Amino acid sequence: MSNRELAPGPDDPGPPSTEEIETVVSTPEPRTAVVTGVGAPRGIGRVVAQRLAADGWSLALLDVDTAGVADFTGQVRASGVQAVGIATDIASEISVAAAFEVVDAQLPPVAGLANLAGVACPTPLLELTVGEWDRVLGVNATGALLLTQHAARRMAERGTGRIVHTSSVTALDGGGTFSKTAYAAAKAAVLGLTRGGARELGPLGITVNCILPGPIDTDIMGGQLSDERKTAMAAGIPVGRVGQPADIAAVIAFLLSDEAGFVNGVSLNVDGGKHMH
Ligand SMILES: NC(=O)c1ccc[n+]([C@@H]2O[C@H](COP(=O)([O-])OP(=O)(O)OC[C@H]3O[C@@H](n4cnc5c(N)ncnc54)[C@H](O)[C@@H]3O)[C@@H](O)[C@H]2O)c1
Repeated sequence: MSNRELAPGPDDPGPPSTEEIETVVSTPEPRTAVVTGVGAPRGIGRVVAQRLAADGWSLALLDVDTAGVADFTGQVRASGVQAVGIATDIASEISVAAAFEVVDAQLPPVAGLANLAGVACPTPLLELTVGEWDRVLGVNATGALLLTQHAARRMAERGTGRIVHTSSVTALDGGGTFSKTAYAAAKAAVLGLTRGGARELGPLGITVNCILPGPIDTDIMGGQLSDERKTAMAAGIPVGRVGQPADIAAVIAFLLSDEAGFVNGVSLNVDGGKHMH
């Protein structure tokens, strides 16, 4: 019989409180978040990855920009975070499959996917070629599909997972800031993928959600935004400013958290009120 099973003496702490038990039970197992779009130094992906690392995730860092991945992965590792960088073209099934094999071999189980990789497209509709349409759909839509499939197959084995894709308010507005029809169509595909994924993968313990950022202060809209451009964009945003990558990272961190398990199939605007519907 252990001391704990005897009647408590004056120095005996007694049985653990409910709070203590919950603390022990909720201690997270090592797990990996796959984060795409970390190549751009001023992009959203890097800030999301750093936020997820702070929340205790190990990181698989994917981007087609080989040098950008290597540079950022070095920074993340130097801060003591378990991370692997993998040069990946998310529009290529072969490339995505190879990336997940590396993840399987080198990191804890995949429990999260934060897909930030994307390409803009300011080409007017009447000048759009099928080649450009395919490229934009390939990265923004097919890439999201491939990542979902490869991540979800692994998550399903453990009965739990969180997937977050990145659409855009442009999917709702059809343009209006920088990108036009091809991008709007690709990001609208992400809305459908999110809802279909939520419906089909929910029973497997996997949630699928997406965010729709408004204008965020990165270089995707044709280079670094000038103060004049930011001021002009802010005029259409009720909170009176463009967004920062950290605004997006906070929302993704929540959607990837254990606590968000009943949030599924949501398309969440993170746009300061730019598009209300
Ligand atoms: N910044 C905004 O205003 C804004 C608004 C709405 C939606 N978004 C979306 O948010 C996401 C992040 O945007 P951002 O502003 O950080 O853009 P960004 O251009 O700074 O970064 C995009 C990243 O995606 C990577 N990428 C492009 N094609 C790829 C491919 N085939 N495979 C792998 N990686 C690839 C790029 O190398 C880059 O590192 C994108 O999906 C974008 O469409 C951005």
